[in-house]
Amino acid sequence: MGLEVIILAAGKGTRMHSELPKVLHKVAGQPMLSHVINCAKKLSPDAIHVVIGHGAELVKSELSEEKINWCLQKEQLGTGHAVQQALLNIDDQQNVLILYGDVPLLTADTLKALIDELANNQLVLLTAKLNDPTGYGRIVRKNKKVQCIVEQKDADKKTLKVNEINSGILTSNASKLKHWLSKTNNKNAQKEFYLTDCIELAVNDKDKVEAIVCESEEEILGVNNKQHLAYVERVFQSQIANQLMLNGVTLIDPTRIDVRGNLKTGKDVEIDINSVFIGNNILGDGVSVGPNSVIINSQINAGTKLHANCHIENANIGDNCELGPFARIRPETILAENVKVGNFVEIKKSDVKTGSKINHLSYIWDSDLGKNVNIGAGTITCNYDGANKHRTIIG
Ligand code: UD1
Ligand code: MG
Repeated sequence: MGLEVIILAAGKGTRMHSELPKVLHKVAGQPMLSHVINCAKKLSPDAIHVVIGHGAELVKSELSEEKINWCLQKEQLGTGHAVQQALLNIDDQQNVLILYGDVPLLTADTLKALIDELANNQLVLLTAKLNDPTGYGRIVRKNKKVQCIVEQKDADKKTLKVNEINSGILTSNASKLKHWLSKTNNKNAQKEFYLTDCIELAVNDKDKVEAIVCESEEEILGVNNKQHLAYVERVFQSQIANQLMLNGVTLIDPTRIDVRGNLKTGKDVEIDINSVFIGNNILGDGVSVGPNSVIINSQINAGTKLHANCHIENANIGDNCELGPFARIRPETILAENVKVGNFVEIKKSDVKTGSKINHLSYIWDSDLGKNVNIGAGTITCNYDGANKHRTIIG
């Protein structure tokens, strides 16, 4: 019996007030849906099915590199109906885990605990206890046992006071889910086919239903508007900052660093405030990054010092270099060791050998500079004669 994951992502996300499908809005530079897919992959499922509807083509093309079974839900008739679309492609004996494309902070550890419980139950839910449960489906228990889930819009006064809520995430067996869902109807306030109705149907069938209460409220946070998106971004960034510090990086202010991608760091790295790291970056031992730098897909080697306001993209910076303030290093630039690049210098597609200096207001591009070259203030290497590009070589 294997595991297959279904991710619901067909909704429009009306409250985002955006042309972009909700699940493509980014957290830490990646679509929310990518975070959910990455989390699902950690469980090594047999397959990942994503139910799409609004902006389906765009969602598919943005995530075209992922191995996904895309399931089109033409009309959004409810979460139960959405799950049914994916179940059409899943064998009865498989176990199924249902996730949401707009819940990007979920961790694989939480999901593993959920799946482990399935050994003793037919359906396991992930719930949370919230100070303010408004908007969520409420978990109704009798003698501590889960009886059903009641949606906010269908709830009476007593049920609205329940503070244990449905995260939406659940796991069960495919044949069971197919059976329960075939019995659901849309006679409710939203005229939708609710996935949550499976709980009561399971209880009526005397199937065992268990709920695991998620310790962290943040993990199950669903993004519905731009305020939620910003909040989730901050939570995510603080997790990254904490991890960097545990790895030994000195952050002058952990609330003022943004990492959108992977940042690998050596020993004794120090990062001053307001820097942004985009894509895959590597900082070697003893690197220091001054305030307000932007570093994109680059490698900065050991002992190099970046003064304030450096902008570095697709470049390789050697050991013990010194850059900035206000240096701009553009793609395909390779600086060897002990190179100095000063203020208001732009370098593109150039190879600069050991010990060379370009200290003031220069534009170096398409150039090969040898060892210990000293470029005077305001120098430009011209590469274009109006028809062809040429390389400048300085010994
Ligand atoms: C749902 C749950 C609720 C839970 C809440 C957690 C139901 C009936 N209710 O409510 O108990 O507390 O999530 O956030 O399940 N979607 C589709 N197709 C559809 C409808 C929805 O793919 O036809 C997707 C949406 O894109 C979204 C997710 O399912 O990712 C949840 O849908 P939404 O309408 O936001 O459910 P809630 O009303 O929040
Ligand atoms: Mg809804």
